[in-house]
Amino acid sequence: MVSMTPAPTLTLNDGTEIPQIGLGTWQLTGEEGYRVIREALSLGYRHLDTASAYGNEEIVGRAVRDAVAAGEVTRGELFITTKAWQDEQGAEATPDAFRRSLDRLGLDYVDLYLVHWPHERQGRYVEAFEAIARLQGLGLVQSVGVANFYESVLREVAGEVGVVPATNQVELHPGFSQAALREVHAELGVTTVAWSPLGRGEVLAHRELDRVAREVGATPAQVALRWAMSLGCVVIPKSARSVRLSQNLAAAGVRLTREQILAISALDDAEGSGRIFEDPRRF
Ligand code: A2P
Repeated sequence: MVSMTPAPTLTLNDGTEIPQIGLGTWQLTGEEGYRVIREALSLGYRHLDTASAYGNEEIVGRAVRDAVAAGEVTRGELFITTKAWQDEQGAEATPDAFRRSLDRLGLDYVDLYLVHWPHERQGRYVEAFEAIARLQGLGLVQSVGVANFYESVLREVAGEVGVVPATNQVELHPGFSQAALREVHAELGVTTVAWSPLGRGEVLAHRELDRVAREVGATPAQVALRWAMSLGCVVIPKSARSVRLSQNLAAAGVRLTREQILAISALDDAEGSGRIFEDPRRF
């Protein structure tokens, strides 16, 4: 099914609206990546998530500029996120890195700029977030946030900088629902953005997802995405395939009951060890 309906939006703590489904672009590179991003835009994606570390800001920017030039979408309808890597953290390093990102994207502003990982050992995440908040003052960044922050560093940046990050983008998928961190987000007014909401495709074979998918006439991937959206999260699944791009965007139309949502949340194990990727405390 091809969906031309853009995803619903959530309102961030600064009043900005963010499309609740975006395209994760990690590993989308080169001409093939460009083609996928253009296709996503033509299918109705209005939110693209990139990072300096992904090495694809040029093709993301080119896809956006070409789609705008072709009259498919306006820049104002799009929500574009990029991120500062560990070696781009610091009072001067972060604004410098931001300008390089903006240059590679070929855009006048980004909608959301994030500290990509806290990297606590390096100890520059507060400076980096403060620098991003200053860029917001200059009108170069619409919203400011972090990624992969755990409770202690999240509270620290909010307290030290005096700006609550609009989003915290973290690993979140069936089997790893981040219940405790989401409570902290709710308390502070931070929107949770779920990266790898399909658990890299690895969690989709779970029996419970399959059961719910059959009950509601959707795919397991759509159930996983809709479940995270029901918890109040923004989701940024990555796919390089047309059919999946469409299916993932159409997850917004899937309806889950409270019982189905709770059943998927119950896939977390007691130790909270359902993480697939690195623990940000150590990364
Ligand atoms: P592909 O790019 O070949 O579609 P995540 O965003 O959670 O990291 O998941 C991305 C992985 O899940 C990729 O390997 C992607 O493969 C796969 N994937 C994306 N969408 C779907 C879908 N609707 N059904 C099954 N697998 C999917």
